[in-house]
Amino acid sequence: MTALGKLLRTTAFKLTLVYLTVFALFAVFLLAYFAWNTRRLITEQITQTVDAEITGLAEQYRQGGIRRLVLVVDSRSRRPSSSLYLVTTPAGEGLAGNVGSLAAGILETPGWTETVYRRLDDQDSAEHKALVRVFQLPGGFRLLVGRDLDERERLQDIVLAAGRWSVAIVVVLGIAGGFFVTRRVLKRVDAMTETTRTIMGGDLAGRLPVAGTGDELDRLAENLNVMLERIEALMHGLKEVSDNIAHDLKTPLTRLRNRCEEALRLAEDESQYRSALETTIEESDALIRTFNALLMIARAESGQGRDNMIDFDVAEIARGVGELYEPLADDKGLSLKVDAPDAAPVHGNRELVSQALANLVDNAIKYGTPNASAANGAPSEIVVKAQGEGDRILLTVADGGPGIPEADRGRAIERFVRLEQSRSKPGSGLGLSLVSAVARLHGGELKLEDNHPGLRTVITLPRAGPGQVAA
Ligand SMILES: Nc1ncnc2c1ncn2[C@@H]1O[C@H](COP(=O)(O)OP(=O)(O)OP(=O)(O)O)[C@@H](O)[C@H]1O
Ligand SMILES: [Mg+2]
Repeated sequence: MTALGKLLRTTAFKLTLVYLTVFALFAVFLLAYFAWNTRRLITEQITQTVDAEITGLAEQYRQGGIRRLVLVVDSRSRRPSSSLYLVTTPAGEGLAGNVGSLAAGILETPGWTETVYRRLDDQDSAEHKALVRVFQLPGGFRLLVGRDLDERERLQDIVLAAGRWSVAIVVVLGIAGGFFVTRRVLKRVDAMTETTRTIMGGDLAGRLPVAGTGDELDRLAENLNVMLERIEALMHGLKEVSDNIAHDLKTPLTRLRNRCEEALRLAEDESQYRSALETTIEESDALIRTFNALLMIARAESGQGRDNMIDFDVAEIARGVGELYEPLADDKGLSLKVDAPDAAPVHGNRELVSQALANLVDNAIKYGTPNASAANGAPSEIVVKAQGEGDRILLTVADGGPGIPEADRGRAIERFVRLEQSRSKPGSGLGLSLVSAVARLHGGELKLEDNHPGLRTVITLPRAGPGQVAA
């Protein structure tokens, strides 16, 4: 398609044409109305003037008969003006006046007529138009009074010419303006199309240009850019998961396989086979747990967990998790305390929030044992707390362990990251990643803070009910 063809086919240009037609029609209508009204007004004025003259002449006739009328008409005819007069005998011979010739039959029809005439003093000139009134006088005499219409015609010509010019200018300016606007729009759309092409080509980092005018194209581009950002984040997440699977699951799977092979090769009796199988099952369980954790994180990060958003009581969940983990804490000599109001209504994904809280409590029990020197014999305390704050509910888990140094806090949240000091404990390094993904799914974030001593982890969730914050 040629550039011009493309331009002519745009919605903007078609709209311009529609507007132009409407405007041109309106302009024509307005001018016609104006012209018609001026003409009517001028005609009205002419009739009034002629009527006034007739009244004057009638008075003269009443006072001095036809003789006086002829005298007055004669004197008036000599004055330079656009008034026309004629007095004729019953036979049609002119007695006085400034009209040389008239269209045939005019003098025989009394009343108002529009006609062509020639002036007496100007016989050779072209015919002019006039509006005249004819009177039948007693005795067969006739009186004609009228006025030249040249001025009216001239004014009308001026108005019509002005009208034609203005319509022409409206059309030309309209089309030029249409081209200009359309070209601008087309340029921006072309730029957008160009960007979408690069994005389709696989470069997800491309963003649509925003002109900064805040118009509808800008708003569209901004929204599409937000969408692209989201898609890029999702693709990034997907890539990360596949990378994780490739790197972090391959090693344990290979280890598992090698152990089986070794057992086949080296085991001598049933008890050795049994123990090899038992280890295999244990490692498979750990792998399944890792897979589940990865899937859960992917679910939370892709926003899929949003499908199951319901209103539920997070205080009840806190108490449930507390009960579940209490024996485990006891075993480690830790006291687990739940500090929650009677009800803390939250809008969110119940399953993911329970899992996130369980992960935090699990960490607190696993890593929250104070160093022997700091403990002073007293049992360290783990506090699970749910509290309302505005339209949010804060969920906090605090322990009295060694905590995480500030520099490591960002890293600890990443997938498969386990800090040096906790390598001896079982785990895959996915617990905090899930908590963070769940927090983000609910429109908040996971915060790691210093509990002096120990670690305090906080997540915010939207409070349920009217006016809840959309996740
Ligand atoms: N309460 C805590 N006190 C001290 N360090 C902690 C605490 N919680 C987490 N960490 C550190 O952050 C790291 C990451 O925690 P995360 O829960 O993600 O993984 P994990 O507990 O090692 O494994 P998983 O939770 O998958 O079984 C831990 O390995 C640990 O070093
Ligand atoms: Mg953990």
